[in-house]
Amino acid sequence: MRFLIDSFSPEEIKKVLEYYPAEGVTTNPAIISRERRPLKATLLEIRELIGEKMLHVQTMQKESGAMVDEALKLRDELSVTPDGHDFFIKLPAVPEGLKACAYLSKKGVNVTMTAIFTPMQALLSARCGARFVAPYVNKLDDVGDGEACVEKTARLFEAHKLDTKILSASFRNVSQVTRVALSGSHYCTLPPAFFEKLIYHPMTENALTGFESDWLSAYGNKTPSELMEE
Ligand code: G3P
Repeated sequence: MRFLIDSFSPEEIKKVLEYYPAEGVTTNPAIISRERRPLKATLLEIRELIGEKMLHVQTMQKESGAMVDEALKLRDELSVTPDGHDFFIKLPAVPEGLKACAYLSKKGVNVTMTAIFTPMQALLSARCGARFVAPYVNKLDDVGDGEACVEKTARLFEAHKLDTKILSASFRNVSQVTRVALSGSHYCTLPPAFFEKLIYHPMTENALTGFESDWLSAYGNKTPSELMEE
């Protein structure tokens, strides 16, 4: 499974990119609204930070024609590659979204179908040419089983040889991330603070403390590279 950053904060995105193997950024209307930053300037700042990595931005239009227009406008503004392969328009898994997805996909615009809660929403999206489907794992866990949705979607895509990738979103804990990775999710998108949760373990800290004191008792403050020069 590969990782994306679910954020609209350039500072936090920059920090994650420095340490973690993140392959792009996803945003959604809730995340954007929470930050209260100027939309265009911030999206351009994020694009500058991530270079040609993926950027996913959601439409707020309700009707397919308007979704298409918004997708093309956003792609023109926010893509830095000539073919626009670094930009993904996020469309909702509703009939108008499917219609726009089929049209845009044929035109070569990348679509991520979002707010996916069932394997059938994912299958219809894939058949309309979506590059990604985004199941909301924790939101589903609140009322059912997020992992099961990911696992069934992965089986469907495999059985029917569909290239659409699963981009799992909405997590509250590390166990959910581990389980969707094991169930066939190709990507997940995580808020910046989540990356630290994935790498941190107290036993790792303990092991390092042990190494430090063993080394200190044998070699004092000298480092291996210093000792190699003696
Ligand atoms: O990107 C999806 C995510 O932001 C929505 O899920 O549960 O974190 O609000 P949640």
